[in-house]
Parts: sequence; structure tokens; C-alpha cells
Amino acid sequence: MGYQILNGKYTIPNLPAAYADKMAQTLKIVLADERCGVRVTLLYGVLEECDIITRSVKIENTGTRKLYLEKVSSSCLDFLYGNYDMISFYGRHTMERNVQRHKILHGRQAVGSIRGASSHQYNPFMILAEHTATEQTGECYGAAFVYSGNFSAEIEKDQFDQIRFVMGLSEEQFSYSLSAGEVFYAPEVVLSYSGEGIAHLSHNFHYFARKHICRGKYKDKPRPVLLNSWEACYFDFDGEKIVALAEQAAEFGVELLVLDDGWFGQRDDDNSSLGDWEVNERKLGCSLRELSERVHQKGVLFGIWIEPEMVSEDSNLYRSHPDWALQIPGKKPVRARNQLVLDFSNPEVVEYILEKISDILRQGEVDYVKWDMNRSLTDIYSANAKEQGAVSYHYMLGVYHLLESLTARFPDILWEGCCGGGGRFDLGMLYYTPQIWCSDNTDALDRVRIQYGTSFGYPLSAMGAHISAVPNHQTGRSTDLNTRGVVAMTGAFGYELDFGKLCEREKKEIREQIAIYHKIAPLLNGKYYRISDPFAEEYGAWMVVDPEKKKALLSIVMLNIHGNMPVIYVRLFGLDPTKNYCESISKDIYSGEALMAGGFPVALRAGDYQAYQIMFEEVNAGE
Ligand code: GLA
Repeated sequence: MGYQILNGKYTIPNLPAAYADKMAQTLKIVLADERCGVRVTLLYGVLEECDIITRSVKIENTGTRKLYLEKVSSSCLDFLYGNYDMISFYGRHTMERNVQRHKILHGRQAVGSIRGASSHQYNPFMILAEHTATEQTGECYGAAFVYSGNFSAEIEKDQFDQIRFVMGLSEEQFSYSLSAGEVFYAPEVVLSYSGEGIAHLSHNFHYFARKHICRGKYKDKPRPVLLNSWEACYFDFDGEKIVALAEQAAEFGVELLVLDDGWFGQRDDDNSSLGDWEVNERKLGCSLRELSERVHQKGVLFGIWIEPEMVSEDSNLYRSHPDWALQIPGKKPVRARNQLVLDFSNPEVVEYILEKISDILRQGEVDYVKWDMNRSLTDIYSANAKEQGAVSYHYMLGVYHLLESLTARFPDILWEGCCGGGGRFDLGMLYYTPQIWCSDNTDALDRVRIQYGTSFGYPLSAMGAHISAVPNHQTGRSTDLNTRGVVAMTGAFGYELDFGKLCEREKKEIREQIAIYHKIAPLLNGKYYRISDPFAEEYGAWMVVDPEKKKALLSIVMLNIHGNMPVIYVRLFGLDPTKNYCESISKDIYSGEALMAGGFPVALRAGDYQAYQIMFEEVNAGE
């Protein structure tokens, strides 16, 4: 029907979407089907500064009858020719975002989620890369969904070898009724292109996510180093234990103590109390205010864990409102982690939880909140809904409403997303929580791969990464404290262990790690390069470079070791070839050109899983 070009970027009611200043533009293309009474407006946001185009779709019922939307996609890219690979990110709990790359075949290839969360199984981020594209060369296209629920990313190659790439809401469990005059907005897809390899595509997404998705006072700041109580004491704590952890934390230079699960209702294990957002003062031995004040007196910030979308059957909330849980009348609901999911498609439920959580956040001096979500949605039936076709979608709107309301009411709080680790790691959540717990797996070796996979679409600042005790609680593997540090430090850094159980050598090393982290933290917002593929090679190597190319941090973890290992030459990226750099360990000077063309020689130490963290700093002429 027509088009419009407007200054500024469009917004989408009730959904997270990229924000941009006047530099962005919006293209609206209006299509109409007069006979069916449907008007569709394709919304393009153009953020030239970061090579990003966003796409959403507005659908209006301009007729007189009710319509049912059975499938709504947000973006569609057509490739008339070319030989492309599909790169997607699959996984499972404690092993998220493995990288899968394969040639696009004739027929339809798709990933997606119908679990109610974007899921551990497939991430809503995908890349189409020329078959010959590498990190540094070739054309590639990326698409990321700004949505945290059911999605679909489909690629189809047709009889003329043309490829269509479509991303949007999953059509399963989706039938949205649109009455005359009503409007529906599809969640946004973010698109980018690189003609110079996959690293550049990642840079576009990293910068964009930090500047146009993440919000709040921490969006550009190095995040406080935290100590989380979960692997330190699980459910077994009282107020004294938490204050003792805070005291130890302060001694080491940790800046934030997080009280994880188990502080509310009667919750001493995972069988009860979700939904009962009342502080368990009997267990803590004091009120939340007193506890937070005592933690602050030790000189560290105070944070708590919540799981607002859930309810335990053994809870006062469930006993008084069984109809507030998603379950199908007459059928036994599926439990996961012994819990049910609250019906967040019902605004009354969301308002109730909003007031309960707000009350908690007003009771204590809370600086940080970890927002968890520990099971998928099943038994999708809302006792409140007139029509059941879009309960999962309305559930997500309820989650976003709660996130928006809480982040607006408590703007100084640092929010971290979590979903059984990294099961809801997407741009939708990053709009509210500028960091997300990357995985419940804290094993340093597995984390090299998990963080590698995550880095294709998401910045380092988004990846919650902690050092935990060994043998690792998830894999049983032991790695050096140094190795765990090298891996966790290239993320939103923290610890998840009992400092009281450490020996003197470890205590000294942790103090050093925290000092190093403070030095390198500003660098983490620089350009990030994947140097090796830890799924295919015997070492994981990655680096970050500051925008002025004055400083770079190289991290290497040996995944395997053999007899008589040769020196490995790690070729660096993103340096200035004309500058000279001093390497932090030997203090040797290398030219940027030599480091990038010849490589940095790493003399390997013997021992399993050794890690190396090397800083390169520009040497000024005459020094
Ligand atoms: C999930 C999270 C963990 C921890 C527990 C608490 O598994 O991913 O980090 O918070 O819940 O129950």
C-alpha cells in the first residue's frame, strides 16, 4: 500500500526491542489484504552505526470478523544464489550452545523451542555463512530473536537452489485471536551482515547488544566481582554463615555477596515454598534488612536469588490458588524439579508476584537479583484464559511485564538472568538483565566450549562466569585454580565456593586473580576474537583488544596434552601491525605484525589443562 521513512527507531508495545537515538531510522512498508481485512506493516529499524537492521511486523485486523493468527514470523531473508552453511547452537542443561555447522541441503532445516523458554536445546541465534567463510574471511549473515519463549528458525533450499531464512514465533501452541480493530506485534529479529568473516559479525552483535539492548546503570560498567552461596553451601546455611561468607568475601576483595536459593518460605530443599516470597527469618536468624545491613557493614554489596515464575505444590500460594498454576483440568501435571509453573498469562498472578517481590526488595538493602527459571512449560492450560491458543505467548508477556516493572521500580539493582544455567540466554532477557548465568556447569574445560559457543552472538559482559571448587560438582574434573580463573575472568566474573575451605596458597592466588580482573575488566568491552575452535582443536584460545589497539588480553587453555609437545604459535588478531607490544610474562617486545602474521610462541607447561593469560601492551617509541 505504501511506505514511510521516519527518523528514530520504532518501539513495540509490551515486548523488549532495541532502542536507539535519533541516528536510527525506521522504514515502514504497509501491505494489505482488503478481502480478508488484514493490514500488515513490516517494520525495519536501521542502526547504521552498528551495521544492524531490526525487523518486526505489525498485524491489524481491519475487517469486521475475528481472525486467528496461526503463524507469525518476524523476518525473512531470501538468498537467490550462493553456497551457504547453517551455523546453529544446540545444547542441553550444563552443556549449552555447542556449535553446529553444516551445508544447507535441499528441504527444510529448522531449530526452535516449544518449551516456553528459548531453551538450552537451541539458541534463538543463527548464522548463514558462505561455505568457505572463516572467522576472518567470507560473507555471513546473523539473526537473533529478541524473545525468550517459543521460537522457530527455519532455512529452506528450493528447487532452484535459492535459500529462504525465516525467524519468528513458533507456530506450535500458537493460535492468536485478533478481533476486529485489534493489533498484534511480532517480537523483533536483529539482523547483521559481515563481508569479512564471522568474527566481524560477532563484533556487530556484541556492540549492538551492549549499546542497544542492555539497559540500566551497569550496562557499560565492569560488573562487581561476586561470591554466590549456591555451590558454597546449597540450602544449608543460616544468617551467620552468610555473614561469614561476606566477611571472607571482603577479605579477598570480592564486591558482592549473593544469597542464592533457600532463604524464603520453608525452603530447605527443592520440594517446597516457591511462590511463598516471605523471608524465612527462623532460618536466617534475622530479618532481610538486618542481614543485608550486616553484609554491607562487611564492605560488600548484597544480592538475592528469586524464581518468580514458579510454584511448589507444597506452598501456601498453591494451597490457596491451585488455579494459578499451569495445569490441565482433570490431568496430573508434569513436575520438573518438583515444581509447577505459575500462569503468567494471567495478569492477576503477575501483579501478585510483582507486589510480593517488590516488598522483599524494599525490606532488604538489595543491590543484585538473580532471576532464575528452572523448568520448561508443560500442561499449557490457563484457568483464566478465554482461549487457550496463545497461553505460552501471553506467559512471556507476563514475564516481560514483571521484569519491566521491577527493573523500573528498582533501577539501581543489577539483575542477572538464569534458567537452569543458560536455558534462556537471549536478547529478550538481556534487555532487562545485562548479564545471564551462562551455564550451571562451572567446569573450566566445558566452560571454554560453552563460552566459545555463546560468544558468536553475545558479548562477554553478558556471560556470568564463576570459579567453583574442584573436583567440579558437575563433571568431577579437577583443574588448577589458575585455569578456572583464566576462563571465568573473560565474563561477568565471580566465585561460587566456600572461601573458608581454601589453603593459604589458594587464598593468595584468589587475591591476585581479583586484582588482575579489575585491571582487565574494562578491556572486556573491546573486540573479542575466537582464535581456536575448542570443539576441534587441542586448545582453546581467545583474545580481546581495546578500541585504540593499545592493549590486548590473550587467554589459552590446553584441552589435551601429549609427550614432547611442540611450542604452539597462536596468531593474534585485531592488533595494530605498526605498533610494538610488550608481552606481560617475559616482557619481550613483539611487533603487531609479527604477532598477527607469525604468532605468539607459547612454551607449554606439563600438566593437565594448563592455562595462560597474557597481556600485550603498546610500547611507546623510545621506551
Ligand atoms: C538453578 C540455577 C543455579 C542455582 C539453583 C538454585 O539450578 O541455575 O545457579 O541458583 O537453581 O536452586
